[in-house]
Amino acid sequence: MASLAKARTMTSPIAFRHLPHPRPTAPATRDAALADPGFGKIFSDHMISIEFTRGRGWHSATLGPREPIALDPACAVLHYAQEIFEGLKAYRLADGGTALFRPKANAARFNRSAARLAMPEMPEDTFVEAIRQLVLADAEWFPPVEGGSLYLRPFMFASETFLGVRPSNEYRFLVIASPAGNYFKSGAPAVSIWVSQDYTRAASGGTGAAKCGGNYAASLVPQAEAIARGHDQVVFLDAAERKWIEELGGMNLFFVFADGTMLTPPLGGTILPGITRDSLIALARDEGLEVREERYSLDQWRDDSASGKLTETFACGTAAVVTAVGRVAGQDGEFTVGSGGPGQVTSKLRQRLVAIQRGEAPDPHGWVTRLS
Ligand code: PLP
Ligand code: COI
Repeated sequence: MASLAKARTMTSPIAFRHLPHPRPTAPATRDAALADPGFGKIFSDHMISIEFTRGRGWHSATLGPREPIALDPACAVLHYAQEIFEGLKAYRLADGGTALFRPKANAARFNRSAARLAMPEMPEDTFVEAIRQLVLADAEWFPPVEGGSLYLRPFMFASETFLGVRPSNEYRFLVIASPAGNYFKSGAPAVSIWVSQDYTRAASGGTGAAKCGGNYAASLVPQAEAIARGHDQVVFLDAAERKWIEELGGMNLFFVFADGTMLTPPLGGTILPGITRDSLIALARDEGLEVREERYSLDQWRDDSASGKLTETFACGTAAVVTAVGRVAGQDGEFTVGSGGPGQVTSKLRQRLVAIQRGEAPDPHGWVTRLS
C-alpha cells in the first residue's frame, strides 16, 4: 500500500485551470462579514478542487468559485468516513504581504494521514501550490481584526460510488478558506477544561496520529459534556490506563514548572503531532528552556498544581494559537493551575510565535513561506 502511494506522488506538478467566479461577494457584504469573523463561520469566494482516479493519478485541478458539491448517496465517504484534513493559516504580514506558516509540514502530515487511511498521497508541491493559488485569489478576505488570519482547510475524501468496504478508487481534494478571528469566544485569557474519564480519543494502533474526520466525530460527545458542565474544552486520558494526559479535542498541551522546565506528552501514535507543538518546542529550546517529551499523569497535574511545582499549562494549535489553561475539572473535583490566567512563559512563547508568523520578528528556522 505504502509503496503504491509513494509511486503516485512522483507525477509532475499539476496545472490549475482558473474558472471565473460569476458572482463574487460584494465588497460591502464581505467587509461586514470580516469585521467579526469568529472561527469557521464565514468563507471566501473560491476553492481548489483536484481529482484522483486510480490508474490515472491526480488530475482536473481547478481554482474556481466555492460552491456546493453533488455526491451520490452511495459515495464511499458517506458510509465509511475515508476522509482526512489539514488546518493552517495565511497571515497578513507587517509589510502588507501575505505568508503561510510551515505549509510543507502540513503537507507531510497530510500524507501521513493519507497513508493511515489507505488514501493516495498528494505531492507536497501540489499541496502548497493549491493553497498558494487560493490565498492569492482570495487576498481580499483577510479579516482586519486583532489576531485575524485566513484559515485554510485542505481536505480529501473517498468519492467513489461504491458500498464495498475497501479503499476507494476515486478521491477529491479540496481547499477552502475561512477568515478567522479568535477560536475561543471573547478571546478568553485562559480556558477551563474538563477531563473525560468515560471516553477516550485514541488507542494504540488506532488513528490518533492522523487528522481524519472520524477522530473528531468521536470527540463530539465528550466535548459536548465539557460544554454542558461549563468548560471550554475536553482533555483526553490514555485509553490503556486512563491515567496519562494526552491532548485536547483540537489542541496539544504543555506544562511549565517552577524550575523553568517544560513538558509535553510524547508522540506515541495516539496524539496528533501538532505543528504548533513542534514549533513551540523549538522556540522554547532557543530560549534555553529544557523541554521534555514525557508522560504526565492527571494525579501529578493536580498534585503539582497544589504544591506550586507546576506554574502554567497551555494548549496550542493552529486555530487556538497558544491559550492558557486556568481551571481543570474532572469527576474527582477541580483545581486551578498557577494564577488561573496566562503565565509568563505562556505569554512569551505566544508572543514569539505570533511575531514570527506575522513577519514582525526574524524567522530563524525558515518557517515563513511568503506568498506576496
Ligand atoms: N491536536 C488535535 C487533535 C488537533 O486537531 C490539532 C489541530 O490541528 C492539534 C492538536 C494542533 O495541531 P497544529 O498545531 O498542527 O494545528
Ligand atoms: C486546527 O487547529 O487547525 C484544528 O484543526 C483544530 C480544530 C478546528 C479541529
